[in-house]
Amino acid sequence: MREFEELARSRLPPDVYDFVAGGAEDEVTLRANEAAFARLRLLPRVLRGAGRRELAVSVLGTDITMPVLLSPTAFHRLAHPEGERLTARAAAAAGTVMIVSMGSTVAIEEVAAAGGRGFVPWFQLYVQPDWAVTEALVRRGERAGCQALVVTVDSTVYGSRERDLRNGFLDLPPGFACETMRNLTGDGEVRSIRMAADLSWEHIVRLRELTALPIVVKGLLHPADALLALDHGVSGIMVSNHGGRQLDTAVATIDALPGVVEAVDGRIPVFIDGGIRRGTDVVKALALGATAVAVGRPIWWGLAAAGQDGVTQVLELLRTEIDRALGLCGCSSVREVTRDLLVREAPW
Ligand SMILES: Cc1cc2nc3c(=O)[nH]c(=O)nc-3n(C[C@H](O)[C@H](O)[C@H](O)COP(=O)(O)O)c2cc1C
Repeated sequence: MREFEELARSRLPPDVYDFVAGGAEDEVTLRANEAAFARLRLLPRVLRGAGRRELAVSVLGTDITMPVLLSPTAFHRLAHPEGERLTARAAAAAGTVMIVSMGSTVAIEEVAAAGGRGFVPWFQLYVQPDWAVTEALVRRGERAGCQALVVTVDSTVYGSRERDLRNGFLDLPPGFACETMRNLTGDGEVRSIRMAADLSWEHIVRLRELTALPIVVKGLLHPADALLALDHGVSGIMVSNHGGRQLDTAVATIDALPGVVEAVDGRIPVFIDGGIRRGTDVVKALALGATAVAVGRPIWWGLAAAGQDGVTQVLELLRTEIDRALGLCGCSSVREVTRDLLVREAPW
């Protein structure tokens, strides 16, 4: 997996590489996401005859072949000229869900068409200050066949990405646009993505009234907010700190997961992203109660390194690693991954 980042780095302009690799401020959370996984250790079971492993899970009514989704990441045409079209094909081929960013550089309809038969897109939304624009975006996602609405709630203010400030990477380069933001009100214009600074549960209520799609709240870390999410009828939670790109020094996602899982108590699925780089990371997240995980940067690196094939390789590497880790933990299926398989760095 690390090799894909190195390959991507060698192919990308330095400012684009930094935009993807970087995090907010001192990048404490960016590093913590991975470091927190490393601090957890597996306590495997043996002699359980786990010769064949079942990796499939069901997420919001969709069967996927492994417990890994694609996190929404913007600007895939900066990685490859065909951009999100190729990511969609690789996700469909792997039999999993792609959460398509509202900041995609290929319009959502084209991404969905490129994915073809069996492709399951979910649509990621930043609520826009102008409700008419938000509504137009939701309708566009629905019409394109997206099967869930993933509302990102950790971005009421744009995180301070100091690498980007130093590099002067403050906007998409000429020739690229967030195509799903084009022509939302029939005027042909590409609107800028904005952050709704006053985002509140009231917006979630309005979105629930607006659409029949299941709503997943992405970017929630606090157990009290998980309880509020249940009160407001959301269908899923994605424990996320935006890959360390928003609030620096926010808790690592794997450290926040148990509190959210406990609050939710099995009533809705809990997903997690941030720092997942190995099959063992996936097994650890499952052990702490996640239904499935999502990966962001590794997909971007795969796309930049080798296009569709690169994304496929990243996903298949994860699949192989999850299968191996399950076997070595004595688990025949994802369901058999339980919390007793985990200890902290020193269990005494
Ligand atoms: C280049 C890049 C672009 C991103 N764009 C979005 C986005 O448009 N919407 C969103 O909700 N999250 C976005 N994210 C955050 C990811 O969805 C995800 O939370 C994060 O990347 C997960 O961490 P990981 O990269 O360590 O796997 C972006 C992340 C990166 C690296």
